[in-house]
Amino acid sequence: MDRLIVTGGARLSGRVRAAGSKNAVLPIMAAALLADGEVVLRNVPDLRDVATLALILEQLGVVIHRDGDVLRLRADREGPCEAPYDLVSTMRASVCVLGPLVARRGHAQVSMPGGCVFGVRPVDQHLKGLNALGAGIRVEGGYLLSDVGRRLHGAHVFVGTRFGPSVLATANTLMAAVLAEGTTRLENAAMEPEVLELTDALIAMGARIHGRGGHTLEIEGVACLHGAEITIGGDRIEAGTFLVGGAMTGGDVTVDGIDPGHLTALRETLGAMGAKVTSGSDWMRAEGPARLEATDIATLPFPGFPTDLQAQVMTAMSVARGISVVTERIFPDRFMHVAELLRLGALIRKEGPQAIVEGAARLSGATVMASDLRASAALVLAGLVAEGETEIRRVYHIDRGYERIDARIRDLGGQVRREAQPRLEQSRKQW
Ligand code: EPU
Repeated sequence: MDRLIVTGGARLSGRVRAAGSKNAVLPIMAAALLADGEVVLRNVPDLRDVATLALILEQLGVVIHRDGDVLRLRADREGPCEAPYDLVSTMRASVCVLGPLVARRGHAQVSMPGGCVFGVRPVDQHLKGLNALGAGIRVEGGYLLSDVGRRLHGAHVFVGTRFGPSVLATANTLMAAVLAEGTTRLENAAMEPEVLELTDALIAMGARIHGRGGHTLEIEGVACLHGAEITIGGDRIEAGTFLVGGAMTGGDVTVDGIDPGHLTALRETLGAMGAKVTSGSDWMRAEGPARLEATDIATLPFPGFPTDLQAQVMTAMSVARGISVVTERIFPDRFMHVAELLRLGALIRKEGPQAIVEGAARLSGATVMASDLRASAALVLAGLVAEGETEIRRVYHIDRGYERIDARIRDLGGQVRREAQPRLEQSRKQW
């Protein structure tokens, strides 16, 4: 198992290109299950989550070829319909094969994804959307089962949670509705850029979707979809992570290959903290002052502040001047990074879905544990400003969603190295 060793003190500066978006490519890969022809995806990031979903799709009979950042997927109408626990349990996003399976094959046996480090994460709204279309999904033996055996039908459906629209419940319902008989009106659809990318991909495959980019989508079902060539857009969360790194190290980082309109909330936040943020058509640049100022954020559905950048910005706050308040409105338990930041000397008090962050004059390097993807990225950023060395264990989390993060931070002047984790010597003492 690998670990990252980060030596603090360097400023990040230079240009980095964002990899293709993880959360865009995953549902689009699943959408390949819907098409009669070959789906060709370009700018596919080299991530563990992409590899995991590719394995699941192969078990569902999809033929996949990867050549660099190009992924070719071809799925027959007939094929196996089981996505097993061992794979689904490692990546929640694999639940997005459910909609395509019931829509095209009329059968699905997909393991319930289960909870994760930031909460229970139910799938009730996925089931609500798909069952409204006639999927008849039931939970049995830890699996989501459907054996409807015929074409789904259009319906009027509202999918949403007490936290707002759901990204993947929208994706699942949308992917099922495109092949349903008749028209579906999907209300309260999520508007995250990744949902828009999925919508565009489905349209490129022949789907008829109206209201693209809005909260209400009208989908006229078609009998079949065809193959298409799709280029995945740059990852706004990866980009945001580099920009926060530039701002909090007093550096100057430009990220290319993104739509700056996807990062307006981050731009506002970094601006309020005293960084200078500028952008062009496909890049954004953050220049940090010697020390950032405190500010408050509340995570919200897009275009609000993204929950996937909450941990990284909290890290910046932990060395800013003054007191910041972070309110988590999407995943109220997504605070696993707090305990690890405390180990580095951060001054953070958690109160329910809020964290009160008092900027510390200094952090000092320590051994910390990565608990999930974005928390791991936050710990790398913390290591960049902590005195001495920070050792981050369980970095496989970070490889799920950041392409070669250590090498790319080194290219920006940060000191990060990857090492194999030495095995603990077996204690000979008998108890
Ligand atoms: N929720 C329900 N019922 C449902 C679905 C969701 O109660 O049926 C709740 C969730 O527990 C959460 C809220 O609704 O409290 C919103 O969750 P959402 O469904 O929007 O999240 P998701 O679709 O499972 C995607 C991203 C996450 C990102 C969230 C929010 C992918 C693969 N995952 O998850 O990304 O945090 O949207 O924007 O797109 C990450 O990349 O690190 C990551 C966790």
